[in-house]
Amino acid sequence: MKDGEIITINVVGAGQWGPNLIRNFSTSPRSQVGMICDIDDKKLQSLSSRFPGVQLTGDPDRAINDPSADAVAITTPVSTHYELARSALLADKHVFVEKPLAQKVEQCLKLNELAQQRDRILMVGHVFKFNPGIQYVKTLLEEEDLGKVISIHAIRTNLGPVRTDVNALWDLGTHDLSIFNYWLSEQPSSVTASGLSYLSDQREDTVIANYIYSDQVMATIHVSWLHPRKVREITVVGSEKMLVWNDMDLSEPVRIYDKGVEQETDLYTDTFGAFRLILREGAVTIPRIRGAEPLSNECDHFLDCILNQKTPLTDGEDGLAVVRALAAADESIANQSRMVML
Ligand SMILES: NC(=O)c1ccc[n+]([C@@H]2O[C@H](COP(=O)([O-])OP(=O)(O)OC[C@H]3O[C@@H](n4cnc5c(N)ncnc54)[C@H](O)[C@@H]3O)[C@@H](O)[C@H]2O)c1
Repeated sequence: MKDGEIITINVVGAGQWGPNLIRNFSTSPRSQVGMICDIDDKKLQSLSSRFPGVQLTGDPDRAINDPSADAVAITTPVSTHYELARSALLADKHVFVEKPLAQKVEQCLKLNELAQQRDRILMVGHVFKFNPGIQYVKTLLEEEDLGKVISIHAIRTNLGPVRTDVNALWDLGTHDLSIFNYWLSEQPSSVTASGLSYLSDQREDTVIANYIYSDQVMATIHVSWLHPRKVREITVVGSEKMLVWNDMDLSEPVRIYDKGVEQETDLYTDTFGAFRLILREGAVTIPRIRGAEPLSNECDHFLDCILNQKTPLTDGEDGLAVVRALAAADESIANQSRMVML
């Protein structure tokens, strides 16, 4: 496709999240939504007045194999991602898949292979890589503004929504893993995780996963669907400074704390090597962060990759790295929190 051409995208899955993608792709000057597909007719009908003129179908094969579509966006439950994405790639469509890419590492490998064979764009909805606050922190870390990163702690809790096909880590922790990998420019080397299945005996509704990255960075994720408050927060502790990113604070999402602990040689003892710990508490800086809606940046990036043959920032390899880390956490949970190497 050439720059200037309008990309036609068919969206499969019109539940809670799908309409957000439909809105973005239908308002972009570079794309239009050709067809919306959902196997639930009530969901489809509720969208007919909101997106007039867009074809509606309950048949995913029809939406995927539609000859007038250049791309397919998949926003269905995770358990359906692999089959739908595979069919779309086999139909020679560019494919956007919501996070996480698939339920198994092998499925991600196959999708990546297929995208390469068919020379199609495969992009995963790791939307936080398009979040201006997360991008700002990435710049700080690259400039070593916090010193050496020592630990990262992510909390993502709320009362529901409860999923039935994946556990809370696959649902919510996917975001944090994609952020950790992006910030640290690498993948974790091991994980120790534990989970609690209170709401059902099928899926863990609360998970705590402790990932170790090289250079001994400890990155912890605490996710839960069984929590009184909606929290979306990540704390980064560096050797020089610390910061908190709070996604619930739209106007001031990042706070940088000039705080740390330093070792100082104790002048009043003559013991060689004696030192004392000094707590340093400096100013709090709140940077001005402006930027477009992350989802709109993400959709725009997908279009840009199709039009200009670019590799997405959140390509299939990025999706694979996250699924590999999620699968390793599942293995640890299933084995009484045994450490699993990645
Ligand atoms: N990026 C984000 O911040 C974000 C937020 C929420 C959800 N998501 C992701 O979006 C996806 C959907 O989540 P949701 O909250 O909208 O779920 P949902 O259950 O509300 O909606 C899924 C929809 O898909 C439909 N569906 C199921 N199987 C289908 C099939 N084979 N063909 C066509 N339609 C089918 C269902 O009828 C339902 O309407 C998930 O992958 C989820 O992880 C991402």
